[in-house]
Amino acid sequence: MNEISDSIMYIGVYDKTLEYFENQYPVPNGITYNSYLIKDEKIAVMDTVDIRMSNDWFKNLESALNGSVPDYLVIHHMEPDHSSCISTFLEKYPNAKVVGNARTFSMIYQFFDIDIEANKVVVTEGDMLDLGKHKLNFYMAPMVHWPEVMVSFESTEKILFSADAFGTFGSLIYEEDWDKEAGRYYFNIIGKYGNQVQILLKKLAPLGISKIASLHGPLLENNISAYINKYQSWSSYEPEYSGVFIAYASIYGNTAYAAKKLAKVFENKGVKNVVLFDLARQDVSYAVDYAFRFDSVILASATHDAALFPPMEFFISHLKGRNYQKRNVGILENGSWAPAVARILTPILNSMIDIKICNKVISIKSACKNTTDEDMEAFADEMIKMQSVTPSA
Ligand SMILES: Cc1cc2nc3c(=O)[nH]c(=O)nc-3n(C[C@H](O)[C@H](O)[C@H](O)COP(=O)(O)O)c2cc1C
Ligand SMILES: [Fe+2]
Ligand SMILES: [Fe+2]
Repeated sequence: MNEISDSIMYIGVYDKTLEYFENQYPVPNGITYNSYLIKDEKIAVMDTVDIRMSNDWFKNLESALNGSVPDYLVIHHMEPDHSSCISTFLEKYPNAKVVGNARTFSMIYQFFDIDIEANKVVVTEGDMLDLGKHKLNFYMAPMVHWPEVMVSFESTEKILFSADAFGTFGSLIYEEDWDKEAGRYYFNIIGKYGNQVQILLKKLAPLGISKIASLHGPLLENNISAYINKYQSWSSYEPEYSGVFIAYASIYGNTAYAAKKLAKVFENKGVKNVVLFDLARQDVSYAVDYAFRFDSVILASATHDAALFPPMEFFISHLKGRNYQKRNVGILENGSWAPAVARILTPILNSMIDIKICNKVISIKSACKNTTDEDMEAFADEMIKMQSVTPSA
């Protein structure tokens, strides 16, 4: 039994075999769906899990209950990875009250053919649920993934049940490793909603949180302010590193060759963090993670039927969809008769907030022949000049 404290038990599950979270993000190390049981004068179950893992979850729940019966099921988020066991839970515990906000309940009726009018406890901003010694204080967190999301702060043990916020991929993951995948999780899943995350962080600031119990990943217990600061920075779209992320989409390899050559040019100029990324081979969610963490991005693509080579189109649509902003971007294009990448990317980048586009474009005709080392040098110098990429001394 995984005890968080005398009264709070972890009853979540480790989904080690899931290939794609939300059917799109590869999770080579699986994912957890977290759930907790608070045992006080009243007993509260904090969220259910994905139906894939319902057997394990009910086992954990029953073992933690040890013969007692839950009074409440608290629903922080209605996305199916946390809510798909609600109806089965209510079949087993028909007298349990279901705690959610008005939007939670309209979604319950969208997903399930059940009648829970008699079980409903509707909470709103600032409401408190008294379990005895433990008291859950609710804060609405709309669009900190979905519109019905809320978090709760247990004021006796000072634990924040943060819904998807502060979540990360990985099933057997320790707190020290949170950051490795928390960015890929955040930028891809919540990245679009930086403003809403900022609003939530403001509400949380005065609480004095000692632990964060997110719905995915490890319980966060050490140096809480570091996690909050990271979310503060990510949600304000500030870059985390000074460095150059070079994402390339190449059909025959000439654009890839040029991208690699350009990486060397930056390295020779003393730029420390230079990362090359093959958009046609590696999953786009990792590219989104890099693009958000780095302050400078180079988009290198072949022209394909007078359009972007599709892996680049896919990538740029991901960045746009996630409200990508406040970065310096350089363009490297390639085409055998009419390179069109800069012409297509420029208005897309201009439609984003505060994206600075390098005024030099590397335009290649088929192979790198017409692009001299001096062209690459000049492009790199321009990018270094225009941004905070600081060559080391
Ligand atoms: C299906 C297809 C469509 C293409 N369409 C264009 C095009 O519209 N304009 C152009 O200049 N080149 C076009 N090309 C040529 C490539 O963009 C060009 O050969 C480029 O140098 C390829 O770079 P790579 O070696 O990095 O793949 C096309 C190539 C393919 C396979
Ligand atoms: Fe979610
Ligand atoms: Fe989730």
